[in-house]
Amino acid sequence: MKEIYTLADLKTWKKTPIRLGVLGDPVAHSLSPQMQNAALRDCKIDMQYARFHILPNELREALNLVRGLNFVGVNVTVPHKIAALDHVDDVDPDARRIGAVNTISFAGKTARGFNTDGRGFSRAMRDEFSVDLRDLRVLVLGAGGAGRAIAMQCAKENCERLVIANRTFEKGEQLADKLRNFFTGPKVVGPVPRLQAIRWEESACRFQVANADLIVNATPVGLNRGDASPIPAQLLAPHLMVYDTVYSSERTAFVSAALEAGARAANGLSMLLHQGALALEIWFQREAPIDVMRKTLL
Ligand code: ATR
Repeated sequence: MKEIYTLADLKTWKKTPIRLGVLGDPVAHSLSPQMQNAALRDCKIDMQYARFHILPNELREALNLVRGLNFVGVNVTVPHKIAALDHVDDVDPDARRIGAVNTISFAGKTARGFNTDGRGFSRAMRDEFSVDLRDLRVLVLGAGGAGRAIAMQCAKENCERLVIANRTFEKGEQLADKLRNFFTGPKVVGPVPRLQAIRWEESACRFQVANADLIVNATPVGLNRGDASPIPAQLLAPHLMVYDTVYSSERTAFVSAALEAGARAANGLSMLLHQGALALEIWFQREAPIDVMRKTLL
């Protein structure tokens, strides 16, 4: 199997066992193939999962091609999660609400879009920190595809407090507005609002960190070696749980800073695992071999 396929490969596709894949740009770093291929082997499903480097202007054609080639489904990742909404026939209500798709199923020749990031995140929090979102005050950094899925999941699970910090303040504000209905209940958390969008500034973050239990980085900051922590290290404190959706072989600056501050911290591998397991369950309507998949990420 080739390391990475392209649109040109799809146009001249020869029959292979590849019937699943991840479409992204970049996509070389994706760990989904090793995880999904181990699961397929374990389930004795005679198919393979591959990486496809697909540019934004190629997404529509690539999706049409894979559907025509009888693919079971695909994952879409950066930067296609939002655009993919417009390239499927039907969108699951969760994905519609989030405004982003990460999993597409071609069952019955209908392209149906799903989003497993939010539920994957929730399961990851249980795995990593043995906590339920409903008990937590959460600060989410970022309001893109991943940030929206995470914020929506926190809202759906009725978390105690949700604060969204985004570089483009207006986008964070729009996301908070969309979630307003989830926070009208009688829960009281003292003098601070239960739902709030804040500016990406040290002073604003400092106040919120003192009123948060969990901080989640849902921006790509940390993907590149040498990236600084998305919020200043000196703001981190021992009472916190810190989750970085970025995963890399080296510790991100955010995770390192959190551990140095005495906080608990984890990277995005557990969310990758659970969103992938949920995708497999959508494609094959059977339970995913989660332990087999987890082992490939250790
Ligand atoms: P994904 O699907 O991975 O969430 P995305 O939809 O492109 O990717 O969203 C990226 C998020 O990270 C956005 O919230 C973005 O902020 P803007 O809304 O201001 O664009 C945020 N982001 C990207 N680069 C960033 C940086 N260098 N510093 C802070 N935030 C950043």
